[in-house]
Amino acid sequence: MKILIINGPNLNLLGRREPGIYGARPFGDYLEELRKQYPDVEISYFQSNCEGELIDKLHEDGFILDGIILNAGAYTHTSIALGDAIRAISTPVIEVHISNVHQREEFRHKSMISSACMGVICGFGLDSYRLALEALLARQSVNPVIC
Ligand code: DQA
Repeated sequence: MKILIINGPNLNLLGRREPGIYGARPFGDYLEELRKQYPDVEISYFQSNCEGELIDKLHEDGFILDGIILNAGAYTHTSIALGDAIRAISTPVIEVHISNVHQREEFRHKSMISSACMGVICGFGLDSYRLALEALLARQSVNPVIC
């Protein structure tokens, strides 16, 4: 199984950015542990602060992978283009957030991408990514590829 984790703007600063909200752990650290926990899953990773680069990556990998886990950061709340990109590809996308966006400012309650995604996981800290991976694995075992 091949999956891709995409992190959007400001998530390159995880570990240093508002640790009270996003935790003190750098994402690279967490990713290493996740890869060890799931040795049979090929987990690639992409981070960008630019909306267009996130869209290009969805186009590039969105027809060949088994799943994409997307934390679009603040673009979640603003980007019609990201929602359209998710609708344009065939790979299922799970929207994730580290924080519980519904407990935060009202502008974070709206997502421009949720309706295009297979599902949404938020509020479990970095574990949100693992929970999304579990959801993709569960889906895979319900719909195995029959050769
Ligand atoms: C976030 C929540 C967004 O509202 C925020 O803009 C982020 C991170 C999260 O993971 O909790 O950058 O997506």
